[in-house]
Amino acid sequence: MAMDIKQVGPAFAGEVTGIDLRLPLDAKQVVFVEAGMDEFAVLVFRNQPITDAQQLEFSNNFGQIESSEGGNPTSKLHNRRLRVDMADVSNLNEKQEVFERFDRRRLFNLGNRLWHSDSAFRATPAKYSLLSARHVPKNGPNTEYADMRAAYDALEGWMKEEVEDLICEHSLMHSRGALGFTDFSNEELETMKPVLQALVRTHPANRRKSLFLASHAGSILDWPVAEARIFLRDLIEHATQPQFVYAHRWAVNDLVMWDNRQTMHRVRGFRGEEQHRDVRRTTIAGDGPTTRQRA
Ligand SMILES: [Fe+2]
Repeated sequence: MAMDIKQVGPAFAGEVTGIDLRLPLDAKQVVFVEAGMDEFAVLVFRNQPITDAQQLEFSNNFGQIESSEGGNPTSKLHNRRLRVDMADVSNLNEKQEVFERFDRRRLFNLGNRLWHSDSAFRATPAKYSLLSARHVPKNGPNTEYADMRAAYDALEGWMKEEVEDLICEHSLMHSRGALGFTDFSNEELETMKPVLQALVRTHPANRRKSLFLASHAGSILDWPVAEARIFLRDLIEHATQPQFVYAHRWAVNDLVMWDNRQTMHRVRGFRGEEQHRDVRRTTIAGDGPTTRQRA
């Protein structure tokens, strides 16, 4: 079957056919997927019943796999359900049971319902994320993706000038704090120190500019905090208008791959949280920091 990509979102997001992720990719297939990512920023692969090993092998084609360590500092006290090179964004504990309502890991993961770009809280943020749905509840939840290139393009000229050289501070402390989750140990706080990120990024392949935003962004260098927060809130509101958003409705064995440099995403809430949601993410590290970090 020939490889193909058909647009499924309003202005971006494509569905790929003709590639079996259980098998090693050849060079032509890797180039095809990379080019698809540069163009669409979100790619959907349906009916891909892969194992963890196959997901890792597929991910390896696109760069260095990021360790998930530090992504959810509250999980440190527990045994992992998945290996460290896979981020567990399911609602399950190490016994494969759905988290209790007050489980701190569950409360921390609620932050994934805020718009974000994966690993924007790391000095080197993520390039791609690849999320494989092994078990999904009936009726959701969807994941929504926002095209940050289109959002940048739609800014008025004076606003493009305003954002051009701004540097933001990103931290998990800020996104979780926004939900009132501030009850962290000193050790957890240590892993969540803010990092600096450029607000405007240029994609290395297609040269398009995009807004690099996330709910982790809590301040802008040299700005009063209150002014920075309302400015960032307005920008996120602008960037997530319906014309910039693709909502993915998950089916079991979907794999969705997105470019964190060009998109934001969030998972939605859903009814029936007692149902298992087993979704496993591999993350490809970016090339380096987006701006110079503090010494
Ligand atoms: Fe995420």
